[in-house]
Amino acid sequence: MFDKLIWKNDRVLLGELVFRLELSKRDDWELGRECFAFYKTKPLVGQYAKFFALRNDFAPRQVVELGLFDGGSSVFWFELFSPQKHVGFDLTRREDSEYFQRYIARNGLQDRLKTYWGIDQSDTRALLRIVGDEFAEPLDLVIDDASHFYQPTKTSFETLFPLLRPGGLYFIEDWAWGHWPRFTPPNDAWNHAAQLTNLVAELIEATGTTAELISSVTVLKGFTVVERGTMKAAELQGVRLQDHIFRRGQPPVWQRLRAWRQRVSRWLGRLGAGARGRVPAR
Ligand SMILES: C[S@@+](CC[C@H](N)C(=O)[O-])C[C@H]1O[C@@H](n2cnc3c(N)ncnc32)[C@H](O)[C@@H]1O
Repeated sequence: MFDKLIWKNDRVLLGELVFRLELSKRDDWELGRECFAFYKTKPLVGQYAKFFALRNDFAPRQVVELGLFDGGSSVFWFELFSPQKHVGFDLTRREDSEYFQRYIARNGLQDRLKTYWGIDQSDTRALLRIVGDEFAEPLDLVIDDASHFYQPTKTSFETLFPLLRPGGLYFIEDWAWGHWPRFTPPNDAWNHAAQLTNLVAELIEATGTTAELISSVTVLKGFTVVERGTMKAAELQGVRLQDHIFRRGQPPVWQRLRAWRQRVSRWLGRLGAGARGRVPAR
């Protein structure tokens, strides 16, 4: 599909669909609301094209997207992958645009492409409930282009990553915005917010600890891709990234628990042996 995109200064066209490029929008825009507003740039889409060219066996059927803005990216991903189902979430309380509604109706996609507005990406219960209702199979792909803040992004990751099938991919878009001077001028209110880079570093640490949880992390300027390892879904319930990171001198919780269990069983063993020693011989 990437080769079918026709790029202009202020829009990208895909067949009859118009995606207005919000980051290069001009005052003389003549189509009004007859478009999808789209928050991606040509270089970013180029990075996606390169990434998927190397993964042309990847054909996601079950897709979740966080951060929709106008729903344009949902249509973009839907056109690219033609999944069985694509469900999107966004914090803003609004409805689908008329242009979006017409696209859904024209293509009969009411059950395949769905948007949930007014949902916070860190609302674990809402995400689990809706994903549980909407999907009968494990997810293949999650794309997070929502808050781009550390804590909500991590909360969504810990909620949705376990729902991916082994080999499924989790994208965190624009993780690097804290390194782009244009987005972080001096004295900006967000300058004190924790960098999303911290989460990327933790993902790499977790990959180094055990490939069963995360089998690979690919870091590009525009996004980070996390590939799910083979760890059983049951072991991943309520997963906290922190519990799967070993740092020299700071064993993770599961290792500390295992060591503690071994100490207790050794102690119980000694106690049992002592008690047996005291039993009078018959
Ligand atoms: C960069 S825009 C998404 C752009 C869209 N994916 C695209 O490519 O056109 C980010 C969106 O995330 C939403 N958002 C911000 N914080 C959020 C949160 N905590 N939970 C869910 N959505 C959030 C905003 O309302 C906004 O629509």
